[in-house]
Amino acid sequence: MGKQVYIFDTTLRDGEQVPGCKLNAKEKLELALRLEELGVDIIEAGFPVSSPGDFESVSQIARVVKNATVCGLTRAVEKDIEVAAQALKYAVRPRIHTGIGTSDYHIKSKFNTTREEILSRAIQAVKWARNYTDDVEFYAEDAGRTDNEYLARVVEAVIAAGATVVNIPDTTGYCLPDQYGAKMAYLMNHVPNIDKAILSCHCHNDLGLATANSISGVINGARQIECTINGLGERAGNTSLEEVVMIIEQHKHLDLYTNIKTQMLNPMSREVSETMRMPVQPNKAIVGSNAFSHSSGIHQDGFLKDAQTYEIINPEQVGAEGSKIVLTARSGRSALAYRLQKLGYTFTRNDIDALYQQFLEIADGKKEVEEYDLRQMAEAHVAENAMA
Ligand code: KIV
Ligand code: ZN
Repeated sequence: MGKQVYIFDTTLRDGEQVPGCKLNAKEKLELALRLEELGVDIIEAGFPVSSPGDFESVSQIARVVKNATVCGLTRAVEKDIEVAAQALKYAVRPRIHTGIGTSDYHIKSKFNTTREEILSRAIQAVKWARNYTDDVEFYAEDAGRTDNEYLARVVEAVIAAGATVVNIPDTTGYCLPDQYGAKMAYLMNHVPNIDKAILSCHCHNDLGLATANSISGVINGARQIECTINGLGERAGNTSLEEVVMIIEQHKHLDLYTNIKTQMLNPMSREVSETMRMPVQPNKAIVGSNAFSHSSGIHQDGFLKDAQTYEIINPEQVGAEGSKIVLTARSGRSALAYRLQKLGYTFTRNDIDALYQQFLEIADGKKEVEEYDLRQMAEAHVAENAMA
């Protein structure tokens, strides 16, 4: 079975910060219930102090979600923490997620203060939060660009103050996978009380490395990944839930597992895309419309002989419609024969040779050869043969 990686979904918080993705309370509640069904361990439901609407929404989610932990975000500010605690009052498993920037960019440019002052604000915030719940997560914002030695001091101090999870966000998506992994390893090896808390990965995708960085984080000791459906999130997005879950699923040698029901990944992706009005790029891993499409002749031929030659995931395992053989000018004879057969036409090798030339003429003139093109070609061929 291996070690569990907790899936912390932040679609309703970091994902919802995306312009155009704002959800109303009813939509948030429906998605929260679906996320719970999907098997996520923690739902970050929102940032309660940010608006009365978000407060109401977090509090509705807290009342109805029973199995997953419901989490509210705060700054390291007493009022934020108090308001989050109010919103989470009726949750079965409430978590307060508080924190502050720890990189010198944040300390100097954002707060115009010192490392020591940030350290004491961090400790104070965790202590305030612990007055309301035993489940307190601390985030060291911009940990990706925070000096490791100072970061280790912060992590040790917040754990001593009562944090049970410590989030190491690569807020700007700057780190390389080996750097992010080395940061986790450094914390695992240099924070004396690290056994009292779990480390969490929260990676942004500015360089397209969010998934790789999160996986590197768990390989090096983190036990929680913060992610969103379809990788939605600030700027270039967050780590995509479906990608990390399927990487863990595929690479059994990592000796890790999650509680996600993988068959729900595609339906969930569509639901989030529609509700948040955010289309999914066709070539998106796991949930894109082309994720299981084969269009070049070489790939199609191999796939038709044995699906595993070109597919590492069975589409059913992730709730996708199934593999598709798409016909384009790059497709080969075996794909043409296969698609014709699916329409009920079984032709000889010679017939297929003749039809293939016609097929290429049609295919050169359009992006994809459709079912009706195939029917027309096949019917004409059958009629010609009958007259001969
Ligand atoms: O990216 C980030 O640093 C965050 C924190 C607020 C957790 O979203
Ligand atoms: Zn973030």
